[in-house]
Amino acid sequence: MHSLQGMRIAVFDTHRFDREVLEAVNARHGHELTFFEARLGSATASLAGGFPAVCVFVNDRLDEATLRTLHEGGTRLVALRSAGFNNVDLRVAEGLGMRVVRVPEYSPYAVAEHAFAMLLALVRKIPRAAVRVRDSNFSLEGLVGWDLHGKTMGLVGVGRIGHAAARIARGFGMRVLAYDLRPDEKLAAEAGVEFVELDPLYRESDVISLHVPLTPATYHLIDAGALSKMKRGVVLINTGRGALIDSRALIDKLKSGQVGGACLDVYEEEEGIFFHDLSDRVLLDDVLARLISFPNVLITSHQAFLTREALENIAETTLTNVAAFERGEALVNEVKAAQVLR
Ligand code: NAI
Repeated sequence: MHSLQGMRIAVFDTHRFDREVLEAVNARHGHELTFFEARLGSATASLAGGFPAVCVFVNDRLDEATLRTLHEGGTRLVALRSAGFNNVDLRVAEGLGMRVVRVPEYSPYAVAEHAFAMLLALVRKIPRAAVRVRDSNFSLEGLVGWDLHGKTMGLVGVGRIGHAAARIARGFGMRVLAYDLRPDEKLAAEAGVEFVELDPLYRESDVISLHVPLTPATYHLIDAGALSKMKRGVVLINTGRGALIDSRALIDKLKSGQVGGACLDVYEEEEGIFFHDLSDRVLLDDVLARLISFPNVLITSHQAFLTREALENIAETTLTNVAAFERGEALVNEVKAAQVLR
């Protein structure tokens, strides 16, 4: 579509799943992609020397030293293949005249569907059942679950992902209570979602799923006090951000039975752990180790976004962002220091 020859892009923290999709989508864009498995940081920034653009993910760390090295090497554009941008020092980038772009939305369905995949797996004890059958143990002892139909789902945050989750929950025949700073009357009317304050949501929900962003207002939103207000035996789902939940308080409430189960795709100290194969090492994070030890806790390592559709959308938006920069067009997905979460 555009006649320029494409940009040279250094792609960091590459996994096979990113590389395959980026290469396939790039066939339509014609950029020159060079893949590095290393995460971008001050120790690896010199690898990007001579590349006008770098492409990074959530665990690359673009602090001042890294950005300065990138700038000295000629990099002018940082293309995040994520929605979040907390890992980039935007003030330093702006001071150096570097532009930063991101992918604000790729597939709300990917995340909402993963939340329900986890919920069903936990409630119907699928991981346990599958391991048993693999071992030729066909007993049903200890596998009694419960119906989602007729239960109450509480959604905290009803933006793009919360909307998708609300419709799925309604499809299961659940009553849906929702809390959001900006209640969506259209969703309420169309899908029969009831917008309520947090206290009644905590009190009446059998399952509570978190879909708010992490901001100073939502940090440890689910603390000991909030957990105490919930229905005894509540199941929590967190595909938002780890620090929405006070993990230590959650452990206490799991031990007392106040919380009946938890499905966690994110964890507040996940950086440096999630996305890595640490299977031949000792896990040093005692809080995570304790959470993993509960039979009624299911953990995945930040994979809710990981569908073919989401990866294709991420690749398409990222490479389009780079093309717009190359052509000197307006950067619709640019992030600025002024947008940093208040
Ligand atoms: P969104 O921006 O469409 O929706 C967020 C909603 O939360 C909005 O309706 C907003 O009004 C509401 N909200 C914000 N602050 C609030 C507060 N203090 N109290 C009540 N409501 C509040 O965002 P989207 O796309 O639905 O994503 C939600 C979050 O999911 C993201 O911020 C991200 O942290 C997480 N996420 C996780 C992924 C994963 O792979 N696990 C992938 C993508 C996003």
